[in-house]
Amino acid sequence: MQTTAITKLSPTEILEKKNAEALLAGGQNRIDAQHKKGKLTARERIELLLDEGSFEEIGKFVVHRSKDFGLDKEHYLGDSVVTGYGTIHGRLVYVFSQDFTVFGGSLSMAHAEKVCRIMDLAMKNGAPLIGLNDSGGARIQEGVVSLAGYADIFYRNTQASGLIPQLSAIMGPCAGGAVYSPAITDFIFMVENTSYMFVTGPNVVKTVTHEEVSSEDLGGASVHSSKSGVAHLSTPNEVACISELKRVLRYIPQNCEEIAPVYPYTSSGQETRESLNSIVPENPNQPYDIREVIEQVVDESSFMEIHKDYAENIIVGFGLLAGRSIGIVANQPAHLAGCLDINASKKAARFVRFCDAFNVPLLVFEDVPGFLPGTEQEWNGIISNGAKLLYAFCEATVPRITVITRKAYGGAYDVMNSKHIGADMNYAWPSAEIAVMGAKGAAEIIFRKEILSAENPEAKLQEKVDEYSQKFANPYKAAQRGYIDEVIVPDQTRQKLIKAFKMLENKVVNAPRKKHGNIPL
Ligand code: HXC
Repeated sequence: MQTTAITKLSPTEILEKKNAEALLAGGQNRIDAQHKKGKLTARERIELLLDEGSFEEIGKFVVHRSKDFGLDKEHYLGDSVVTGYGTIHGRLVYVFSQDFTVFGGSLSMAHAEKVCRIMDLAMKNGAPLIGLNDSGGARIQEGVVSLAGYADIFYRNTQASGLIPQLSAIMGPCAGGAVYSPAITDFIFMVENTSYMFVTGPNVVKTVTHEEVSSEDLGGASVHSSKSGVAHLSTPNEVACISELKRVLRYIPQNCEEIAPVYPYTSSGQETRESLNSIVPENPNQPYDIREVIEQVVDESSFMEIHKDYAENIIVGFGLLAGRSIGIVANQPAHLAGCLDINASKKAARFVRFCDAFNVPLLVFEDVPGFLPGTEQEWNGIISNGAKLLYAFCEATVPRITVITRKAYGGAYDVMNSKHIGADMNYAWPSAEIAVMGAKGAAEIIFRKEILSAENPEAKLQEKVDEYSQKFANPYKAAQRGYIDEVIVPDQTRQKLIKAFKMLENKVVNAPRKKHGNIPL
């Protein structure tokens, strides 16, 4: 489509015509094709995302400057991205939305400049950046100029990291090096069946490795939300995706200098939660769903789980406690007995670092029998990956509270926000077992000779297990040392936490001056 011929029109008419032309982007046929694929257009997405009437567009008439391969004859007002600012729940956000109807949303230098412009504004003004991605990647006709445009964005993503929240939604293709912009951002949301992310597509995969794989199986929403962990949330359609984007913003501040919004909360005066008393089974080897604990402790229906289908042995997510946002990290005894493994450590470490960067206090529920044993874990680096979580907790300066519901064994006891690595308050339920290892394993090692030489080894083992349990499989040894601040009845947990987080509200930590640490990446 050519830009508007401006003869015989009044200045206002010219503007109106240009505005109409920009709104039509790549043309009605391409808009229809987009809808046929079950996808919304870039502008429709923005409309759904922002508070009604709040969108202010920037760079609506920008066009690409490419002259090769006939591009000098093909211009679309705004090029292949819509950029600007608006509000969500009344709070300022900056947004870019790639327009697949214009050159398949591909990134020209003009496109990159528009994105960079709002990234700069977002950083200067301290407000979240939301990217809606739907692009065929580098504008092939522009060559290296397009690659430069990507790098300009990656650089800003990194500058913005930890300064303002950055959220990415993948709503179509996102391939090649283009994936690295969302990858640097804090959270990636994907739409099932219409979005995919990969560094090399199915054709290249086939040529190089002879594997036959579809785009969906290689890099669709379900793969990235369960196998690779690249996506934090997978949603059935675009409307649900945008609604989840808006939801997560409720729990996070505008920037690293602020705290998350505080919501009105009137206590009914009754904060005990009796159902908590019966969630942990009497048999220490029986699983239970830690989500039940979380849901009883936080304000009603406020728990928003992140990364739900990845590393299910650890749960992370946001919740409200008496109207205030908290980040929750919890071992999940219902999956792999709640063991820490490589993926769980990476998942939780990244979440802890997000919360710490953006002043969201951390609440940890602990029921962990230890690190997952095995060659697969060792060969793939459970040592350096487990250290990520340890490091993330050690360096976090936000208020940090731990509640041990059952097992806290071995190195995992130290890692899961123990007092020794800087937690502010550590509670344990009476069912807590804080020890180097489980009673049976411990008895088998330290009383091995005695058990083997006994007349009835089984009875001897049981006697020693009972002896060890009595001594260590409880919270009282740790409480004697002050490693546990208080042993609490489960139904008191919510009120204890409300008071303790209030007490920690003005926590200040003066960390030693340095450039930055060296987290074991
Ligand atoms: C220019 C592009 C384009 C691109 C698509 N189009 N990708 N134009 N540069 N990268 C155009 C098409 O020519 C077409 O124009 C329109 O967008 C829609 O594309 P279709 O192919 O008709 O759509 P669809 O069938 O849905 O397929 C979408 C697609 C496919 C899978 C994304 O277009 C495709 O494979 N594109 C190329 C992807 C690619 O190789 N990109 C470079 C990756 S390397 P018309 O005029 O017909 O509507 C890269 C490096 C980044 O990105 C590095 C950063 C460090």
